[in-house]
Amino acid sequence: MLMLLKLLKDGRFHSGEELGAALGVSRSAVWKQLQNLELESNLAIHRVRGRGYQLAAPVSFLDADEIALNAPSLSYPIFISESLDSTNAEALRLITAGSTAPFLVLAERQTAGRGRRGRQWVSPFAQNIYYSLVLRIEDGLRQLDGLSLVVGLAVMRALQASGVHRAGLKWPNDVLVNGKKIAGILLELVGDPADICHVVVGIGINVNMQEVAGIDQQWTSVQLEAGAPVDRNQMVAQLGAQLQHYLECHRESGFEALREEWEQNHLWQGCLVSLIAGANQIHGRVLGIDGRGALRLNVAGVEKAYSGGELSLRLRDDS
Ligand code: BTN
Repeated sequence: MLMLLKLLKDGRFHSGEELGAALGVSRSAVWKQLQNLELESNLAIHRVRGRGYQLAAPVSFLDADEIALNAPSLSYPIFISESLDSTNAEALRLITAGSTAPFLVLAERQTAGRGRRGRQWVSPFAQNIYYSLVLRIEDGLRQLDGLSLVVGLAVMRALQASGVHRAGLKWPNDVLVNGKKIAGILLELVGDPADICHVVVGIGINVNMQEVAGIDQQWTSVQLEAGAPVDRNQMVAQLGAQLQHYLECHRESGFEALREEWEQNHLWQGCLVSLIAGANQIHGRVLGIDGRGALRLNVAGVEKAYSGGELSLRLRDDS
């Protein structure tokens, strides 16, 4: 599939004969491959008699050299796949196989992208960023305090640098624009958090996606917000640079050093919310976060702090 796409990616017309010659197959085999390509990749292909086939819009692929060119300070290996079940799952497999962290796993598509709280992350081909950065953590618990919130800050800054100026944060680590989700973060840990462990920093960013089925919440994308397609290699580089900056600050000074910046960008600061923990709901007003990234709520006049990956936050209708 990738071979055919690479021939078409310039967005110009290519005749069936030309494609067949390049692929070493007949014109009818080309036609079949094009049908499969449209079906599997969700990319529209125009057919015009006498001219041939053309992608409705040019596509660019993830490319480690281009990423490195745009972010020369990033020195870890980058593994790019055409299709994976999940970049987080692949990263975990590579850790088990003994790969040395840090390293980055990217994919053009995920067939079983993982979201928080057991949800699926819809991951169409060649449109978005599916990004799993593996870090080795040696100083256990301190380095993990507030880590997912710090990643949220880095993602938000990368989005702002790509033209999404109104991107903001929702505790614990959603990135929203006008109440619509544009990016999600899923951290997965292996090893002993009190000693040496690895953390997979999984990030999904809706980049050039304009329509898709199967997302059960309001969403948007960089292209929808910024009004033009975005180069994913440049955006991966931007994300890498922002992560490098924020992770270094977190490692050297702890989460406390980033707490104020996080709160300033929290879209629901001061709002009335419901915190959902399984079947339980807690109602309160958002006061902020504490020095470990836990959510501080005023619940019936008493300040309480909450943390945990299974929690989710909703705005109250009367907020
Ligand atoms: C969320 O539910 O908000 C978190 C979504 C995280 C999705 C990303 S995409 C790259 C990485 N691989 C996965 O399977 N999930 C994360």
